Amino acid sequence: IKKVGVLTSGGDSPGMNAAIRAVVRACSYYQLEAYGIYRGYEGLIEADFIGLTARSVKNIIHKGGTFLKSARSPQFRTEEGQEQAYRNLIEQGIDALVVIGGDGTFAGAKAFGDTYKFPIIGIPGTIDNDIQGTDYTIGYDTALNTAVEAIDKIRDTANSHNRLFLVEVMGRNAGDIALNAGIGAGAEEILIPEENLGIERLLESLDRSRKSGKTSSIVVVSEGDQIGKNIFELADYIKENKKDYDVRVTVLGHIQRGGSPSCYDRVLASRLGVGAIQALLENKQGCMVGINHNQVVEVPFSSTTSGSNYIDKSLLKVADIISI
Ligand code: F6P
Repeated sequence: IKKVGVLTSGGDSPGMNAAIRAVVRACSYYQLEAYGIYRGYEGLIEADFIGLTARSVKNIIHKGGTFLKSARSPQFRTEEGQEQAYRNLIEQGIDALVVIGGDGTFAGAKAFGDTYKFPIIGIPGTIDNDIQGTDYTIGYDTALNTAVEAIDKIRDTANSHNRLFLVEVMGRNAGDIALNAGIGAGAEEILIPEENLGIERLLESLDRSRKSGKTSSIVVVSEGDQIGKNIFELADYIKENKKDYDVRVTVLGHIQRGGSPSCYDRVLASRLGVGAIQALLENKQGCMVGINHNQVVEVPFSSTTSGSNYIDKSLLKVADIISI
C-alpha cells in the first residue's frame, strides 16, 4: 500500500476532523501518501481529491464538523457510480481507503470493497452509537454532553414554572443518546425505541412523580421512539388526558451534531485513525476498527450493521431507580 484516500460520509459527528488528522499523520509516520476525498462517496465519484500532508491537518483536532465535508450519496449505490469511483481511484493511484462514518457508509464500503477487491478500513463516526462491534462511535460522547448541557438548562426553567418538558434527542433508530443523556440529566422518564413501555405507563409514572412531591418533570424522548406518536402528538395526548399538566416540547436537533469534540472523542478518533492505517499495513481489509474493552479491535463490515441496536437493559433499571 502506497497511497491512502480518506473520506467522511453520512451525518457528520464531532471528532471526525481528529480522525482524519490521525489517519493523515499515521500515513506520514509510515511513509504513505494521503489523499483527502471531499463530500464522501460523492467526491469519490467526481474525483474531488486533495493531497494531504501532516501539516495540512494542523489545528483541527478541536474543531467540530469535518473539513473534508460529508454527504449521503445515492449515486454510490449504483453500479455506474461505483465503477466511476473505482476508475478515479486507479487513475489517482490510490490503493486503499479509510472511510469514516456510520452504517450507510460501511454498507457502501462493503459493497465496493467486495466488488473491486479494494482494501477499505472503516472508522465508526456517528453521534448515534448504533454500530455493532464497537463500544463507542466517534462523536457520541460529545453529543451526549451537548444534550445533557441543554437539558440542564431546560430543567432550570421547567422548575421555575412547574412544567413538564418533553425533550427530543437524536439517535435515528437507536436510544443510546436518550438513555444516557436522560440518566446524566436526571430525567424522570426516558423513551427509547428499543423498549416500548407504552403511553399509559408514562402517564402513571408522571402521576407517581407528582404525588411524591415533584413539581416539574423532564421526559427525554429518542427521535426514534416507537410509542406510535411523534413528540408533538405525545404532548397533545398528555395535555388531553392530564389537563393540569403544563406541557412544553423542545427538540434539540442538529445542535447535537456540532461543537468541539470532547477529550474522549479526540482520543478515540486518534486511536482509531492510527489503528486504521496499521490495519491496512497488516493487509487487513473489509473491516472496521472499533473499541472494545478499551482495546482497538477489527470487526468485519458484515458484523457492524446487522441486527438491532444493542442497549444495556440494566441502564433502564438504573434510570427507573434513580428517578423515584
Ligand atoms: O445519524 C446521525 C443523525 O444525526 C441521526 O441522529 C438523525 O436521525 C439523522 O442523522 C439526521 O439526518 P440529517 O442531518 O440528514 O437531517
